[in-house]
Amino acid sequence: MKFFIDTANLDQIKEAQDLGILDGVTTNPSLMAKEGITGKQNILDHYKNICNIVDGDVSAEVISTDYKGMLKEGEELSSLNKQIVVKVPMIKDGIKAARYFSDNNIKTNVTLVFSAGQALLAAKAGATYVSPFIGRLDDISTDGLGLISEIREIYDNYGFSTEILAASIRHTMHIIDCSKIGADVITAPLKSILGLLKHPLTDIGLENFLKDYKKGN
Ligand code: G3P
Repeated sequence: MKFFIDTANLDQIKEAQDLGILDGVTTNPSLMAKEGITGKQNILDHYKNICNIVDGDVSAEVISTDYKGMLKEGEELSSLNKQIVVKVPMIKDGIKAARYFSDNNIKTNVTLVFSAGQALLAAKAGATYVSPFIGRLDDISTDGLGLISEIREIYDNYGFSTEILAASIRHTMHIIDCSKIGADVITAPLKSILGLLKHPLTDIGLENFLKDYKKGN
């Protein structure tokens, strides 16, 4: 199972990388704006900075919504660094663009996926990753994890190689449940990843071990 961090914050990316468990990064225009990264050149430079911190795949999202625009943008993004994965939205032109990029050995991440049918199309188009947004489905009283299970079943039925990248993760239980279901990748905020570390019995146990060590010294 791969762990990606879902942020454009360089300090948080460094912290996850230093932990030694990071396989990649996902970003989107909202995450860039949250860090105050605006304007085309600044955004491109930021992607380069992210690639310099991590070893794995870095998803960079196109903002065009038409086929030709996505191709132009995607090619520019992928020329920045071989780690770049071009992120395209789950719309008709996005699927056409995913097919083009797949045929030209450019990795893709089809984003804003909310149904099994959309995930099936992304796989048919040869996407490298498909990003179902589980938290946003949960937000509208729909079963986000159920969607991951459905996609897992469909991809396994036909041996699709597209990796299921569970996105819009809100907490540690999303990560644990995704690992049980068989998501290939989770992308999560640092807080949710670090949440996996915590257990009160670990803290109490360590405190007691250290106390007992001191008694003998
Ligand atoms: O990468 C995009 C996705 O993870 C969005 O998450 O929290 O905005 O629903 P969120």
